[in-house]
Amino acid sequence: MNQASKLVDPYSWIERSLTTIHKANWYRSPQALEGLPGPVMLLDGEAVLNFASNDYLGLAGDRELIEMTLAAVEQWGTGSTGSRLITGHRDIHRALEREIAALKNTEGAIVYSSGYGANIGVLSAIVGPKDLLVGDAYNHSSLISGCKISGASFQPYDHGNMVALRDILTAQRSHFRRCAIVTDSVFSMDGDLCPLGEILAIAEEFEAMVVIDEAHATGVLGATGAGVVEFLGFTGQPLIQVGTLSKALASLGGYVAGSAALVDFLRNRSASWIYSTALSPADTAAALAAIDRVKAEPERRDRLSSIANYLREGLWRVVGPWGDRGFRLLPSDTPIICLQVPDTATVLTLGEQLRAGGIFAGAIRPPTVPTSRLRFTVRADHSRAHCDAVLEVLEKALKTLG
Ligand SMILES: Cc1ncc(COP(=O)(O)O)c(C=O)c1O
Repeated sequence: MNQASKLVDPYSWIERSLTTIHKANWYRSPQALEGLPGPVMLLDGEAVLNFASNDYLGLAGDRELIEMTLAAVEQWGTGSTGSRLITGHRDIHRALEREIAALKNTEGAIVYSSGYGANIGVLSAIVGPKDLLVGDAYNHSSLISGCKISGASFQPYDHGNMVALRDILTAQRSHFRRCAIVTDSVFSMDGDLCPLGEILAIAEEFEAMVVIDEAHATGVLGATGAGVVEFLGFTGQPLIQVGTLSKALASLGGYVAGSAALVDFLRNRSASWIYSTALSPADTAAALAAIDRVKAEPERRDRLSSIANYLREGLWRVVGPWGDRGFRLLPSDTPIICLQVPDTATVLTLGEQLRAGGIFAGAIRPPTVPTSRLRFTVRADHSRAHCDAVLEVLEKALKTLG
């Protein structure tokens, strides 16, 4: 046998892995929606009710935001041309950071080019190999990646389980220098809230920082739209708040909000901020305009909360009789409403039937989540008729399962 015949293609594992992904029903591919973001969009040329977006306040297709964004492109161009410390910094970045800090009631804020980058950037800056990170097991992928990249010792605790969190800290805190508890504020694939009061009390007892990801809460929860920290009454507490500009704020980018010292430190030590191109003028202007609307139009949040309640109550009615077959509406106080289903094949079937009935909602499967679920996200511009359509199609689809 000659040398060439023994060589194995070093890339052949990719095809094999794809085959495994298909066999497990985990295969995913993007679907192109057309038209301005709204409650009704076009998918493969057909109108569908959009119950899958993160555009909670319905601002991503808003005419005023579009005009402000176009004006920013005219003034500053399409790209920021460099990192903030070199050629990428503009006055609107500072203006956006001031507005985020004002919304969050913190001394300062710093914007990143994505929420993912903000989470990686803050965690890897504030801790290192001598430190301990303890995080909720359902935290978003970006927080988990940040915990791993930081080089700190990383211990997940069972979802929302404060006894487990306390046990880990009791056993391990004294072996480490710094410590942070890391949590989503609204869990993105369940829609429930973290028990922030208990987390803060435990953090104080164990001399730990708290990093809280308000991605799905900013603009959505709290009297002024500041998020779960405000909603649960903890404004002004010494916290590190992170989040995204890409959901209710209808743009792209992420932020960290906290003390002035923290922000100054991140400008000097956070690699994903220092070595990444600054947020584009368009994204910065869109987020600024969105924060103005969050402040000026609290009625959007009220509408969002009441239409989410309407859908939730309807789902309770429709799904109730299916409880003994493994269907369960997950507890949620937010516009993220999830129906847990018994298995991956069922979630795919239901997802297809919803799609055939003109409803676009997430059919979420492992490994993204531990159990398969239909995930509905509600927008402030959904009507009761939109929700009724979801309930009707879902009820019919459940009956076809036999
Ligand atoms: C909880 C949470 N954190 C962070 C992110 C990442 O934000 P971005 O999309 O801006 O990268 C997301 C979602 O996309 C998220 O759901």
